[in-house]
Amino acid sequence: MALVLDGSLAAASIRLQIAEEVKAYVAKGHRAPGLVAILVGEDGASQTYVGAKKTACDEVGYAGDVRRFPASITEEALLAEIEKINQDESIDGLIVQLPLPKHISEEKVTQAILPGKDVDGFHDINMGKLAKGDEAGVKPATPYGITLLMKHYGIEANGKHVVVVGRSNIVGRPMSMLLSAAAPYGNATVTLCHSRTQNLAAFTREADILVVALGKPGFVTADMVKDGAVVIDVGTTRVDDASRKSGWRLCGDVDYEAVLPKVSAITPVPKGVGPMTITGLMMNTLEVYKAKFA
Ligand SMILES: NC(=O)c1ccc[n+]([C@@H]2O[C@H](COP(=O)([O-])OP(=O)(O)OC[C@H]3O[C@@H](n4cnc5c(N)ncnc54)[C@H](OP(=O)(O)O)[C@@H]3O)[C@@H](O)[C@H]2O)c1
Repeated sequence: MALVLDGSLAAASIRLQIAEEVKAYVAKGHRAPGLVAILVGEDGASQTYVGAKKTACDEVGYAGDVRRFPASITEEALLAEIEKINQDESIDGLIVQLPLPKHISEEKVTQAILPGKDVDGFHDINMGKLAKGDEAGVKPATPYGITLLMKHYGIEANGKHVVVVGRSNIVGRPMSMLLSAAAPYGNATVTLCHSRTQNLAAFTREADILVVALGKPGFVTADMVKDGAVVIDVGTTRVDDASRKSGWRLCGDVDYEAVLPKVSAITPVPKGVGPMTITGLMMNTLEVYKAKFA
């Protein structure tokens, strides 16, 4: 019987621990950690994500602030807002919700955030530190959240063969770097697969731990998975579903029902990796904050 890696439960438990740490710092006379989310435009999914991040801030006792700007804001004006936040000592973490309107360079915006406040972990300095195995950098929130989920459920990567499918800069590539790092959550032998990988199933079938981040609903079928493997499904795609009030549901990259009987553990979609991304963000903010008062 497979263990379902419940990201909502793990997130709730980790956030309780974060809340306790925040209380202890505040009791010593320190201000609460400050996290700002910038939201540009009216995109529905972005509003939902930012809303969930604000709720998480309230749960753990952070001063969470959402700064909203119209889609018509210029790149220059947005960069000026980021610089203001960079200079504000009371703000520990800053995230800019992506995607941004076409006339604004996401790359410029990402690189404008002070690396020490980049709690999404997307800045080149943080990616560079990750590539070097330097623990001092801020880790990308989704891969970091996945390591927190694995730790919560006692899943060791050490010495295992991990296969990561997808090499994006926000999930697949940093995931491969974290799990291969000489660090408590790492020490795995990692294979990174992508759209040019030939005979993908031959690799995925070798995985003790399979991390899938493609954005293709149901792509990983039961014959692509080894008996007893751990499967982490990062994919979240909206698919039409007339039986839902919303008209859609979220679907992972793994054919969950077919794969479930074969594996030792698996994340569901939703309520698997999703809540852990926010937990990674909360943990990054706590670490940046604590470093200031250490
Ligand atoms: N739960 C969360 O918190 C969270 C966070 C972030 C992302 N996501 C979800 O995770 C999924 C992936 O996101 P992303 O940003 O990493 O996506 P992305 O930037 O589109 O990258 C997709 C990756 O999959 C690879 N790929 C595509 N088709 C393939 C195939 N047939 N065989 C092997 N590899 C293939 C691509 O290879 P190439 O590089 O060769 O093109 C690429 O590296 C999406 O569903 C996204 O919504 C979820």
